[in-house]
Amino acid sequence: MTITSPTAFRAAQSVQRVTAASRRVQQPQSSGDLVSLAMGEPDFATPLQVVEAAATALRAGRTHYSPLYGEPALRSALADRIGALADRSIDTNDILVTHGGTGGLTAAILAIVDPGDRVVIPDPTYSLYADLISMAGGIVVPVPLQPDLHWDLDALDVALVGAKLFIFCNPGNPTGIVHSRAELERLGAALEGTDTIVISDEAYADLTFTGEAFTSTLEVSSLVDRTVYCQTFSKSYAMTGWRVGYLWGPNAIIAAAARVHNTANGSMNTAVQDAALVALESCADDIARMRDAYGRRRALMADGLATVPGLDVSSPEGAFYLFPRYDLDIPSVEIVARLRDAGVAVRPGSEFGAAGEHHLRLSYAASDDAIKAGVARLATAFGALR
Ligand SMILES: Cc1ncc(COP(=O)(O)O)c(C=O)c1O
Repeated sequence: MTITSPTAFRAAQSVQRVTAASRRVQQPQSSGDLVSLAMGEPDFATPLQVVEAAATALRAGRTHYSPLYGEPALRSALADRIGALADRSIDTNDILVTHGGTGGLTAAILAIVDPGDRVVIPDPTYSLYADLISMAGGIVVPVPLQPDLHWDLDALDVALVGAKLFIFCNPGNPTGIVHSRAELERLGAALEGTDTIVISDEAYADLTFTGEAFTSTLEVSSLVDRTVYCQTFSKSYAMTGWRVGYLWGPNAIIAAAARVHNTANGSMNTAVQDAALVALESCADDIARMRDAYGRRRALMADGLATVPGLDVSSPEGAFYLFPRYDLDIPSVEIVARLRDAGVAVRPGSEFGAAGEHHLRLSYAASDDAIKAGVARLATAFGALR
């Protein structure tokens, strides 16, 4: 672009500042001959009863502003759900309904982080965290994962000293790792006596394949009182386009997050919240059905990748991602470009942090056919690169 005026110059500087804080890359849908294993979203339709609830709400005139913290009926149902996990009675004032998980994370991180604050994140992890920390003027402290993609708890011990905040997702994106109760308790012990806040992003909590019950951070007594719990309807309920999620946490943090959320977003969509309530109350079977399908597709993808020489798939425990390491000395961005030429879209591990280099993220929230075709193309392309 040619910059022709001082105003345009200033605008270009702003664009640079904003883009420099963003590591995220827009991904393609499957189209033409391209098979996409890059998308982080269910390929299922939202359960019909949820769609119908939204239509009914709209027809009934639920088209006006909603209360700033969210609809009371939804917050009350969420209080029951959170209360069951945390084994305590929950004050609905500590719940904020948000514009998806993204809106919740944005509100929480911008509310908590002051310029110069140190914020620890695992490396690699969901790239939104580092982007938001940078936007708030905080210092991102990435702590590389172990080779098995679980936390390096000794390294965390060191990094967490003096940290304002630790942010993580469980199950993990991009790793597909599920952090166990023992790991969470060890984290709780490391933070004992400190004022470090924890954001626990449990977007994929319903999607675990370890054979054991998932442990939420809300169930860990040494962590729960310092935790901001971030949830979304996007993944469990196949509701990515509806943009609804929620936060629960210490009252003062939720109040600050509500200010940020209301400033950036205003109130939440009214009819969408009515539909979200129906999702909470009626979708257990739908969640199980979609989870079973992901479990089958996970095996299909893992078995396919296991036959590709030079790829090492560590145990895929949850979410809908595999994060194989490859043994070629080529940056992941370049591998992704070559795979794209070969007709399959995946994501470079380096997009999720420097320690994600030499990995690829593949999503199995895609059809069986897409998984089979994508893995076959990847295998051929890898063969040619060796
Ligand atoms: C770990 C994690 N948290 C939060 C989100 C955001 O989800 P939402 O669509 O609700 O904004 C995503 C989406 O990919 C995610 O992977």
